[in-house]
Amino acid sequence: MMINNKLINSKILSCDSLLPKKVVTNFDLEKSVDTTDAWIIERTGIKERHIAGEGELTSDMAYISAKGAIKKAGLEVSDIDLIIVATTTPDLTFPSTATIVQHKLGIKTGFAFDIQAVCSGFIYALSIADKFIKTGQVKNAVVIGAETLSKIVDWTDRNTCVLFGDGAGAVVLSASNDDSGILITSLYSDGSYGDMLNTSGGPGISGTSGYIQMSGKEVFKHAVEKMSNCVVDSLKKVNLEVKDIDWLIPHQANARILSAVAKRIELSEEKIVMTVQNHANTSAASIPLALSSVIDKIKKSDIVVMEALGGGLTWGSIVIKW
Ligand code: ACO
Repeated sequence: MMINNKLINSKILSCDSLLPKKVVTNFDLEKSVDTTDAWIIERTGIKERHIAGEGELTSDMAYISAKGAIKKAGLEVSDIDLIIVATTTPDLTFPSTATIVQHKLGIKTGFAFDIQAVCSGFIYALSIADKFIKTGQVKNAVVIGAETLSKIVDWTDRNTCVLFGDGAGAVVLSASNDDSGILITSLYSDGSYGDMLNTSGGPGISGTSGYIQMSGKEVFKHAVEKMSNCVVDSLKKVNLEVKDIDWLIPHQANARILSAVAKRIELSEEKIVMTVQNHANTSAASIPLALSSVIDKIKKSDIVVMEALGGGLTWGSIVIKW
């Protein structure tokens, strides 16, 4: 975007992430629910998940990953004008986790807020930060995905408890004047699918957080179809094709969903960044967790595509020229 005859783009400068120390393997889950390591690996690709320790909050993980990302970007906390936390598992109903992180970082300027788009949360948050930067209102944003899904998982339900984990990741997104950076963001939602993936309660309905419940097969189908279409459409809008993708960094829900997307859009599986085996589905945290595992290998001008689908349903994608 041009502001006062000056081109403003937004660029990811750095990424950092954090997984809690406590690891729960598939073998551990075999002891508490009727499941097997072989079933979980075959259906999901997941080998283990990390679970927040006693008193370890979403804001703690968000803060540590944000601090790491700011340091890696070579910035000071005082350089940050905007903090967005994508989360479905905030510390409190309010204030927002983002303002808690702002306080932990010792920042008294700028502004901070949460985004709730479940597993698409990081895509939504990064899209919003991109717009604030391109309108000239913000120079440096920290965009965080952080979750303690373990708090809203029913650990006696084998249909869901094997799928989720805790973690956080953050990027610094900054204004730049060259032609690289975020090329396009595409966001979608359709509330008519709300019942397909939701919680069994909430402040209004039950006065509790409720537990995750879903129709796994239906979610699978929508995830493959919607994420595939979204990526192809977004690329087309910026005159690119699937063959131009160097890195696909998807929401890490399930290895089979990622393989099915690759097959459908005819993308070589080696271009997909896959970390779900190490941390399971961490919802809004999963894209920055995956990004942090490869960021040092991404070269200037590489085409990086992020995509996600989550409860709502919400879905979207982001195309970046690195
Ligand atoms: N261990 C052993 N057996 C299990 C387990 C388990 N953990 N969970 C379910 N089963 C059983 C079922 O009870 C069923 O048994 P039945 O045939 O006797 O009734 C059998 O396995 C098959 O169940 P399905 O639900 O048909 O299994 P499916 O092959 O669809 O795999 C899964 C289930 C892994 C949930 C799959 O549907 C899926 O990945 N869906 C996507 C869901 C997802 O990733 N959601 C995350 C949030 S959305 C997102 O991030 C995109």
